[in-house]
Amino acid sequence: MTSRIAVLPGDGIGPEIVEQAVRVLRAPALNLDLELTEAPVGGAAYVAKGHPLPEDTLALAKQSDAILFGAVGDWKFDKLERALRPEQAVLGLRKALGLFANLRPAILYPELANASSLKPEVVAGLDILIVRELTGDIYFGQPRGVRTLEDGPYAGERQGYDTMHYAESEIRRIAHVAFQAAAKRQGRLCSVDKANVLETSQFWRDIMIDVAREYPKVELSHMYVDNAAMQLVREPKAFDVVVTGNLFGDILSDEAAMLTGSIGMLPSASLNASRQGLYEPSHGSAPDIAGQNIANPLATILSAAMMLRYSLDAAPAADRIEAAVQAVLARGLRTADIFEAGTTRVSTSEMGDAVLKALN
Ligand code: IPM
Ligand code: MN
Repeated sequence: MTSRIAVLPGDGIGPEIVEQAVRVLRAPALNLDLELTEAPVGGAAYVAKGHPLPEDTLALAKQSDAILFGAVGDWKFDKLERALRPEQAVLGLRKALGLFANLRPAILYPELANASSLKPEVVAGLDILIVRELTGDIYFGQPRGVRTLEDGPYAGERQGYDTMHYAESEIRRIAHVAFQAAAKRQGRLCSVDKANVLETSQFWRDIMIDVAREYPKVELSHMYVDNAAMQLVREPKAFDVVVTGNLFGDILSDEAAMLTGSIGMLPSASLNASRQGLYEPSHGSAPDIAGQNIANPLATILSAAMMLRYSLDAAPAADRIEAAVQAVLARGLRTADIFEAGTTRVSTSEMGDAVLKALN
């Protein structure tokens, strides 16, 4: 059966890195039955159609089995009102498709051990999975805004506010995703919260403990988010799977990605209950290097592999793409972001060429 893929390249380096991932998905060697349809998103869509997430793009995404996403955002759009900024496309797609489970692996490839800013022995063999809840928390909680109250301690002046919020069902479903992921790995799950201060976090912790009873083989621990930020740089290999809310997950997943020193290598998946998913590199749109054919396409190529594994039931093809990426690294090919003395510097499209060749 043909799988339908929405291809949303976006802004900055998005189009050039997505182009390489599309070439890989179309590789004759993989023999995949895919229908790829491209649509504008982010700043590019705002320019073309007046909205970062045009109706046609959203409709295409909804009808698709999976979405391959590049990146959105450019300083050019920073002055637009919030509802029209490129980031709204990401938030809108997550909410409209119910993509509540964000999987962000942080893996250190042995060939890139020197890319980390931490000592090689601290990060060698690092393999962490951050499971970030993606459609709740202070990102979407209501009410939010800026208002002036007539009484209270700040009467008469403007006050900004957002609401941290989690419903029990939202915590339960992300807990199940995280416990199941941990069960397939080393069986250790660390839930990160701020239960010493926040009611929402204490509730989160209570639900995690309750769900844990269904997974007797997984060892559940809890950590406050400030301590987790510290432990991630002190002893990152102590973690296996981390589960946390939307805001803490946003922050900790950037930190975990940087432990590997090569954010250009890290894919991510955002899944809903019917395994429809959005797949994108963990890095941003890097407008400063856009259009120069120097960006690293590997995170996007690896995101396409995750797409095959999680949404399209094509794990063997995913394995082959991941093996091809490993082979290319082993041959010493590097884009500028991971280049070091003694390796061969290649462009975005040459990296794509090399992965295609390694697939054969
Ligand atoms: C991410 C990004 C987004 C987020 C932004 C672009 C809305 O930082 O995917 O981590 O905060 O979730
Ligand atoms: Mn982020």
